[in-house]
Formats: sequence, C-alpha cells, structure tokens
Amino acid sequence: MSHEALENLLKEDRVFEPSLEFAAEANAQPEIYAEADADRLAFWAKQARLLHWDQDFTQVLDWSDAPFAQWFADGRLNVAYNCVDRHVESGHGDQIAIRFEGEPGDQRNITYSELLAEVSQAANALIELGITAGDRVAIYLPMIPEAIVAMLACARIGAAHSVVFAGFSAEALRSRIEDASAVLVITADGQNRRGSVMPLKPAVDEAADTSPTVRNVLVVKRTGQEVEWNTDRDIWWDDIVARQEPVHVPESFPAEHPLFILYTSGTTGKPKGILHTSGGYLTQVAYTHRVAHDLKPDTDVFWCTADIGWVTGHSYIVYGPLANRATQVIYEGTPDTPDQARWWDIIERHKVTILYTAPTAIRTFMKWGDEFPQSKDLSSLRLLGSVGEPINPEAWMWYRDVIGGNACPIIDTWWQTETGGMMISPLPGITGTKPGSAMRALPGISIAVVDEEGRPVGNGGGGYLVLTEPWPGMLRGIWGDPERYKETYWSRFPGWYFAGDGAKLDTDGALWLLGRVDDVMNVSGHRISTTEVESALVSHPQVAEAAVVGAADETTGQGIVAFVILRGGITQPGGDGSALIQELRQHVAKEIGPIAKPRQIMIVPELPKTRSGKIMRRLLRDVAEHRDLGDSTTLADPNVMNLIGAKMETAPPED
Ligand code: WT7
Repeated sequence: MSHEALENLLKEDRVFEPSLEFAAEANAQPEIYAEADADRLAFWAKQARLLHWDQDFTQVLDWSDAPFAQWFADGRLNVAYNCVDRHVESGHGDQIAIRFEGEPGDQRNITYSELLAEVSQAANALIELGITAGDRVAIYLPMIPEAIVAMLACARIGAAHSVVFAGFSAEALRSRIEDASAVLVITADGQNRRGSVMPLKPAVDEAADTSPTVRNVLVVKRTGQEVEWNTDRDIWWDDIVARQEPVHVPESFPAEHPLFILYTSGTTGKPKGILHTSGGYLTQVAYTHRVAHDLKPDTDVFWCTADIGWVTGHSYIVYGPLANRATQVIYEGTPDTPDQARWWDIIERHKVTILYTAPTAIRTFMKWGDEFPQSKDLSSLRLLGSVGEPINPEAWMWYRDVIGGNACPIIDTWWQTETGGMMISPLPGITGTKPGSAMRALPGISIAVVDEEGRPVGNGGGGYLVLTEPWPGMLRGIWGDPERYKETYWSRFPGWYFAGDGAKLDTDGALWLLGRVDDVMNVSGHRISTTEVESALVSHPQVAEAAVVGAADETTGQGIVAFVILRGGITQPGGDGSALIQELRQHVAKEIGPIAKPRQIMIVPELPKTRSGKIMRRLLRDVAEHRDLGDSTTLADPNVMNLIGAKMETAPPED
C-alpha cells in the first residue's frame, strides 16, 4: 500500500469489522461482555471450572489482604495434568501437541500421548534428583521441546520454575539463581543460532560454580558440541530421563501453590522475580487463549513466535495453548536462516492458522521486503496477533495486508509479565479494530485511564493506565520482597494497580497504548531498565558515570542510547574512540546479555542533573531523538546541554 493510501485510510479513522463468517464461528460471542459485567466473579469461576479441579473451590476471590490476592484458594489442581493428561484421557492422545522445527531443518512431531510420557519421565527424573514441591528450578534452554517438557515436569511435581532467557549472560543467570535459591539448573550443550552453533553450558558453569544452592545441572544434548563436565554436578538429560518410567501420578496442589518465578526489569538495577501461582494463572491464560486467539483445538495450527524465556512463551506457548489442547509450531532459530522467507516457509508447510508475534518482527519483515512473504502460500492464516509494544498503524496495515491477505482479524494484545495473561485486546469475532489500537479491556478485566490525581480522563483524554480490579492471573508478589510489590504497583494510585504505561482513549473510547512512563525501556518488545544498563556501564573500569535512555527506533521500538563520562576527566577516548565504545557495548552484553547492548554510546564531559543530583533523562531523550531541548531551567548547570548536544551532532551511530 502506498503511503498516501495509508494516510487516507487512517484519516478516515477506519474501523475493520470482523467478517460475518468469522463472527459466526468465534469462540466468544457478543453476550460475553454483559455476562462478565453482570457478575465478574461468577464469570471467572465459570472460566476456572473449564479446567480440571481435583477439588472444587468454594471462594472465587479473597481480597481481604489486598494487594495480596488469593483466587480459588481452597481448590486443588495439577497444572501439568490440565495441560497434558486430560487430553489423552479424553481420547486425543494421538493429536500432535508440538510440531517442532529446529533451525537446521530437523523436525519432530510430539503427540499428547508422547508428551505425557516425556513429562512423566522428566518428573520422575526430578524426583530422583531430590527435587520436591516448593523447590525452585532454573531453566536456561533454547527453544526446543525439552524446554516445555522441563517446565511441565516442574509444574507436575510442584516445583517452581524460573526460566532465564538463554540470551542472558552468565552473570544475569547467576543473580537469578541466587535470588530464588535454585537447587537445579536445566540447560543444553548449545543452541543453533543463525546457521551456527552457540554454546550455552559455559554460562551455566560460570553461574553454577558460584551458586552454592545449585546441587545439579541437567544438560540436554542439542548440538553435540564439546562441553566441560563436572562429574559431581552435571548429568546428561538423556542418561537420567530416558531410563525413567513413562508413568507418573500427578499430585494435586492448592490453587495458590507457586507455579513459576519470572524475572523482569523494574526501575532499579535489580530485576524483580514475578511470582505466579497455579489455578488463577492457568484460568486466565486458557480463557484468553480461547477467546482472543479463538483456538479451535481440532483444526487450528497455532504459532506463537516468542521465546519461552519471556512471559509470552510461558502463557501462550506452554500453559494457555496446552491447556486448550492446541496443536502448535515451535521454531528454534532466527527468521533469516537459511533465508528471510523462513517464517513464511514454516507457515506454508505447517499450515499455520493463527500467528502471534511482536511489532518489532513485523517491522523487520517490512524492511526486508514483501517478496519474502509473497513467495509463500500464507492462505492457511485466519487470525493474527501482536504483543509486546505499541504497534504503529503502518506496521498494523502491512501485517493485515501482506501477511493476512486482508482476510484475518488482528488482535493487538496488551499485557505484562505481571498480569500473567492478556488484559486488553479486541475479541476477533466481536470487536471492530482500528490500526494501532488495543481497543478495550477483555471481559472480566477492569481498567481506567487516569490523570496525575487518579481521576478517570474519559474519552478523548490521555493519562496513566491502571487496573481497577484484581484478576486471576495477576502476580502474587515479587519473590522475597513484599514491600517492593506494594510500593511498585499499588502505591501510586492506592487501591489500583499502576501498570507503568501511558494510554489515551479516543473519542470512541478505543484505547491506545503510549509506551512506558517510567525508566523502563522496551527494546524489541523486551523490557530493560535504564538503571540496569547504567550499572553495567559503570562496572567497567574506565567509566565514571553513565546515563541511559530509550530513544525512538524505527525497527526495535526503542533503542538504547548511553551517555558516558570517562574516568580521569577524559572527554575524548584515544584514537577515534570507537574501540572503547565497542568495548563498552561488549561489556554490557557480557554483564546483562546481547539484547541490552546500547545502540549508541556517547562519551560526554557532563550529564544534565537537577540541583538535587537527579539525572534529567527527559533532556537526554530529547538529544537522542534529535528534538529541540525541552525545558532545562531546573538544571544545575544549564550549559551542560550545549556540550552534550554538540557531541551528538558529530558522533556517528553504532551499528
Ligand atoms: C510492557 C510489558 C506482554 C508480554 C510481552 C512483554 C508493553 C506489551 C503491548 C501492546 C503496547 C505493550 C507495555 C507493558 N506492551 N504489550 N500490545 N501495546 N505496549 O511483557 O516484558 O512484561 O512488558 O510491554 O509497555 O507494560 P513485559
């Protein structure tokens, strides 16, 4: 579509209504909103009872100790049983659960019966290793079936998993192991990335060597590369799992039994361990996957392109889809291996019907060119989803046009690690959609957009997004830090959950997300705190001070831009400075992980600070985004911005 055509379309404020065919067959029908409004708790109880409970619950929500919630508290269930066994018991054991595709092209189909056998074996192996209910198990694995099996095996025996994205550094892994006192790490020898074999185990060795709580490291053989071996600690997955009985009787756990911890960045340097529990979480992810993704278990092929290292992988690869008996595609590698048509090739060959991905990916594909998707048959697709960051109208239209062939509804789904599952999204058979808008809260979810004082802004207004009622999938706390939980989410607007996002309601009441309003960046849909990157930079011996901002980036949403003061009053590093800048970028990658590498690093003589010493990131963002400087009258030294601005003109961006 030409730019002009797009402009015209958006000017009309066009609403894309669902087709009559889609609407007629949709899992969610229009009455659902009224039903949820009429009795929210009864509505959630009904969703919960679509799961299998070993013991039914008598109370839906206990909010007496707010903001600490209990949902379905006296009910008992086993999450893994709900995701696997019950589908086998209902006669669907031969249905394929996972259609795995490795980056090199190897394929593996796993039926629900096979998944049950593997999860049972893995659960038995964990028991042999002395893991008991309540223990924490760290999982540092690539996108291979064993990652899902490992998570379900933990859930089955009541151990909480803490999945750490395999792109994170040894140090990031170590600090997460330590915070949760994990007793076991499950990893692989390596992973396939962009046509080559990348090691994983060395990072685990480095982390485990300095983690006294870790008793064992369980290693999946994926690449077959050489690894260091500590015979007191390391065990091959194949050696211990394969010889177990493929039968394990699932135990039932209380609904509030911990299911997992997942670390995410906050506004301080220390990641928060977000705690999720069993019954409420599973209820919400299964419900949202049913009504928003509209899964039809007998006919759909679902593909969520996220990594299990992020919450999207937890909720919409593992728990939601498997609870709903989905058949889904899992892909190990990068989208440009062996060429830039890989995703479209996967969709064609597996006949994917529902695709769930991130705006960053969509914008990357737009840049690569239409010829790649157009070279494949994408006509199996019937629904498209987006998650992780605001989707710009242009990317939305391209997604609809080029990927969806103008025939698929798009759901733009807003949620967070903390919310567990989707909160704001159109329902594909009901809600007309505007390109770039997440539209409205899902049935059962209550939100508001409020001003500084917490007053709802009403249609046409902008402000802060808050969640005004508890929801089943909500985080139950921050691991080991109840005060931080209250302070971070519940103190800004007492009684309401403050999400940290800005939002506006248009004159029709449709909701538009405007990005974070705190010091959290969103880079390719991944949450990174400015403070974390600053701490990584100042841990380098040559850095005296650092300030980091997220600057608008055409592809990644935001890019990380760092302003750095060097030690010893050096304002120009030796030579052209690029060697040191590269070294600093590598240093951040080593401290946190490659995703946190700054896009650009500026060596500056000073940082803009208020008289009380607080860095004025707003001004740095203006510089990084090449805007005229906003109000700088509160600066301790108003001349600083001239110095920094001048630097910015001359310095080339890093690749
Ligand atoms: C933050 C949460 C949700 C799973 C992946 C990210 C941003 C998420 C949207 C969306 C605009 C979005 C928000 C949110 N975000 N989805 N559809 N439109 N922004 O999870 O790492 O916990 O990040 O991602 O800023 O607060 P997360």
